Amino acid sequence: MRSSKILGVGSFVPPKVFKNDDLAQMMDTSDEWISQRTGIKQRHWVEGETTTSDLAYEASIRALEASKTKKEELDMIILATLSPDHEFPGTACFLQAKLGVPGIAALDVRQQCTGFVYGISIADQFIRTGMYKKILVVGSEVHSKGLDRTPQGREVSVLFGDGAGAVVVGACDSVAKANEPHILSTHLHADGSFAKELWIQAPSLAYDGPRLSNEILARGDHFPRMNGKTVFMHAVKRMPEVLVEALKSNNLQIGDVDLFLFHQANLRINEMVGKQLGISEDKIFNTIQKFGNTTAATIPLGMDEAVKAGRLKPGMLVASAAFGSGFTWASFIFRY
Ligand code: UT7
Repeated sequence: MRSSKILGVGSFVPPKVFKNDDLAQMMDTSDEWISQRTGIKQRHWVEGETTTSDLAYEASIRALEASKTKKEELDMIILATLSPDHEFPGTACFLQAKLGVPGIAALDVRQQCTGFVYGISIADQFIRTGMYKKILVVGSEVHSKGLDRTPQGREVSVLFGDGAGAVVVGACDSVAKANEPHILSTHLHADGSFAKELWIQAPSLAYDGPRLSNEILARGDHFPRMNGKTVFMHAVKRMPEVLVEALKSNNLQIGDVDLFLFHQANLRINEMVGKQLGISEDKIFNTIQKFGNTTAATIPLGMDEAVKAGRLKPGMLVASAAFGSGFTWASFIFRY
């Protein structure tokens, strides 16, 4: 057995920025409501034909460069998204073609906000067993094309942004020592009995008839729907729980962690998680103000922003946790 480590990180957001006031021109909302309830000030949305694999490609080439890895060295691509380019084949296949690395394994992870952490865990397992040496793990989303901008959808639509983040996970020579860069652990969970609390109903095989029809479109079943309060309530319970689970399994205390990279769904969620665990505010790195919720991309995007801001430096111990649709929740701890 050997450990795995994060070799480098990259990210990309589309250039066009939409501030809360811009949204107030398009739908029945206000900067005051969005800022107070979520902390979001702006988000980036794509234009034209840009897809999830396009953003993933941009983030991936930056991650490859940062990790000094040639694309030909990759053994596998894992791409986490809830906004795939097409229903099939998987978006990882489209990314693989864009990167020009035919033949290597390409896998989609569909665990939404938790997808990147699931992806890291899968990469870690493949590397630990010795099967692969270098794996590209990407979180990428284009939400803007699928949002309901009518009053019925405003609770969801104001939250989401487009963007991508990627890391290259590579093999350590052996089992890493505590002070060496490596992934210490991953913990994954799900409870499908809450699947419909945050979901998109259509297209679906569950209809008595076609997967998509004018009637389905007229009802708006193809837009994401969320029971916000229920999601919030579970997020502030599950994120601390899965962080404590990760710390305990490594015999670590909150104070041992140098930086917390949480999923970015709502600034209030992260503040409540921090308070419950007694984490000092300056150790939580948030990006939701600039990017909104980019689902599978929030953690690698935040990681890259933290590196650029000088907040994440080599040798630091980082704890990361996410919660979202499924419900799914997960954590991982790594030394950078
Ligand atoms: O990453 C996936 C995981 N997602 C999450 O973790 C999200 C979790 N949930 C949340 O972050 C919060 O529940 C929301 C931000 C979605 C909502 O915040 P809230 O404090 O729970 O809002 P609320 O449900 O108490 O607010 C509801 C009110 C309603 O008006 P009335 O009935 O009280 O008059 C809504 O019609 O706010 C109204 N409202 C809006 N007003 C202006 C809902 N959306 C909007 C909007 N602009 N965009």
